[in-house]
Amino acid sequence: MNSNAHGHAAHAPLSEATLELFAREVAKYPADQKQSAVMACLTIVQKNEGFVSVQRERDIAAYLGMPPIAVHEVTTFYNMYNQKPVGRFKLNVCTNLPCQLRDGAVALEHLEERLGVRMGETTSDGMFTLQQSECLGACADSPVMLVNDRTMCSFMSNEKLDQLIDGLRASNPQEN
Ligand code: FES
Repeated sequence: MNSNAHGHAAHAPLSEATLELFAREVAKYPADQKQSAVMACLTIVQKNEGFVSVQRERDIAAYLGMPPIAVHEVTTFYNMYNQKPVGRFKLNVCTNLPCQLRDGAVALEHLEERLGVRMGETTSDGMFTLQQSECLGACADSPVMLVNDRTMCSFMSNEKLDQLIDGLRASNPQEN
């Protein structure tokens, strides 16, 4: 696979620095429970590479002595792990049933239209990735969404969504 687009060297071996960080996480657990560090290791990889490739799941599995499928299950279970490269801003709209009944789907549709991408896709300028989200525990505030796995936005009417997009575009941070 060609990986020159973002300079991701996803098939290169894990760097010394990454292995050191892994070791630090593993050291937090008893020797026979090093697999407990799996989430921390996934987070380290994602921070370095922007997403968790299948190869990196294998690397982590080998490092922690667990089956690759077990690592993959963690990656897919938790929303914060990206399985593909994502845009600078990741927008996760909750479309679980309680939210859907209160305009969660309307919000997702509006964003799809506004950004010109479908759910799961990234805008061609690499700015936004649109994804669904599981219940964020704020059903009464629907439509709710999460920006970059951190910032919760509630009562996202179409107007507020437009403001959010404009604001994020304007902020256009250049740091990594
Ligand atoms: S269902 Fe959307 S926050 Fe709970």
